[in-house]
Amino acid sequence: MAITSFRDLLAWLDARGDLAHVGREVSPRHELVSVLRRMQKGPNRPLLFGNVVGTPLRVATNVLARRETLAASLGLTPDTVLPEMAAREGQVRPWTVVADAPVQQVVVPAEAIDVARDVPQVVHSERDAGAYVTAGIFLARDPRTGTYNASWNRTQLVGGDRMRVRMMPPQHLGQYQAAAEAADAPLPVALVIGAPPALMLAAASKIPYDADELETAGAWQGQSLRVVPAKTVDLMVPADAEMVIEGHVLPHVREEEGPFGEFMDSYVEVGRNHVFRATALTRRSDAIYHCILAGGTEDLTLLGLMLRIEVHKRVAPLARIRDIGTPGQILGCVVAIEKESDAQVRAVMETAMTAHAWMKFVVVVDADVDPHDADDVLWAVHVRCRPDTGLLHLPGVPSFPRKDVEQLHMGKVAIDATMPMVLRNGIDRRRFPGTEKIRLEDYVDDRGRSTD
Ligand SMILES: Cc1cc2nc3c(=O)[nH]c(=O)nc-3n(C[C@H](O)[C@H](O)[C@H](O)COP(=O)(O)O)c2cc1C
Repeated sequence: MAITSFRDLLAWLDARGDLAHVGREVSPRHELVSVLRRMQKGPNRPLLFGNVVGTPLRVATNVLARRETLAASLGLTPDTVLPEMAAREGQVRPWTVVADAPVQQVVVPAEAIDVARDVPQVVHSERDAGAYVTAGIFLARDPRTGTYNASWNRTQLVGGDRMRVRMMPPQHLGQYQAAAEAADAPLPVALVIGAPPALMLAAASKIPYDADELETAGAWQGQSLRVVPAKTVDLMVPADAEMVIEGHVLPHVREEEGPFGEFMDSYVEVGRNHVFRATALTRRSDAIYHCILAGGTEDLTLLGLMLRIEVHKRVAPLARIRDIGTPGQILGCVVAIEKESDAQVRAVMETAMTAHAWMKFVVVVDADVDPHDADDVLWAVHVRCRPDTGLLHLPGVPSFPRKDVEQLHMGKVAIDATMPMVLRNGIDRRRFPGTEKIRLEDYVDDRGRSTD
């Protein structure tokens, strides 16, 4: 069974003993993110902060940082998630309107909203322009067809009812805004925080333009998404979310937004971007605010899953796929296969390189290599790759398209790090029987510290 609300997901993590509770007072300015960074470099557990300066709300982060959690939220396991999500492509399930929505337990009207007070002021990177909503999903309807789109867009919290956000075509939200603006009309939007997990995934996916992402989320979670009419805009919003900021993106208005530290660890510098004015803020009475560090493990796990599904769809007809990983970043991937021929590896390399626009490098490894473990993958590159014949280079083909960094992302390369067929039966990878059963704490007790 899928987990259909952010709150239920936190409860599920807590019941397993995974959720790390932070009771002490924490500043939302850099301290919260510093704790998160240490957690992501270490055990990578989800975090729930109970005492964040300046807000009565609790703050959750690193919630979807593990592949197991992401799969479980869809009622799946890490082994089944790629083929099953590929099979669910194109499926939709109509939403259900409910009368009593937890997300509307508190309603703050437009004149009373101060986003610099009502939303936790989490500041992430050193040079960020200030507090941003970093785990907010914009819901909007195509002004021409009424279809719902969901997308993640960072949002700068300015103050009062005012926020700034970048939304540019080809992103679907940017296309909606451009269409509304062409008619001199504001675009009604709802910024959803603490959304149902399936909606978070739909928002990270490149779903075809005319597919409805609320209905897609319903199909992905195996039950209709529970929605409620927003209070001040003509939109349905998820009834079980933690917080929704309703409002309009103003036509023909741009203000300076940024800088903001983005997912590749550099900054998106100041740009003249869109202005979002709130008309209501609704939330649960004990709302839990969600934030995501751009480029941290939660962000990369979410976006990585979408990339892995795309690659899986394309390479599955070519080879038996053990798994696909995106260790380190999401501008490349590692495909682990049950290799049957050298030509098959070549076909997987060529296909995976074009499976997603961002794909800058591909590594193909044998099924005994863990594609999520960067050390194991590099072991395969060191030990099994023959650079004279094992590389495929596509010069001049762009990958990540953002203007300020496009020169860095020119050309693609694929690496065959599988054992050549002629050597398969001659060179064994050694194994250490029983290693996986050893628990070091059963052996190391540090009592006999003396070396006498
Ligand atoms: C946590 C998170 C934050 C993101 N922030 C942004 C953002 O600020 N701007 C952006 O263009 N894309 C952002 N993305 C990527 C979009 O979700 C992605 O482009 C999405 O597929 C857009 O879908 P659409 O074209 O259907 O609107 C973010 C993704 C995640 C997971």
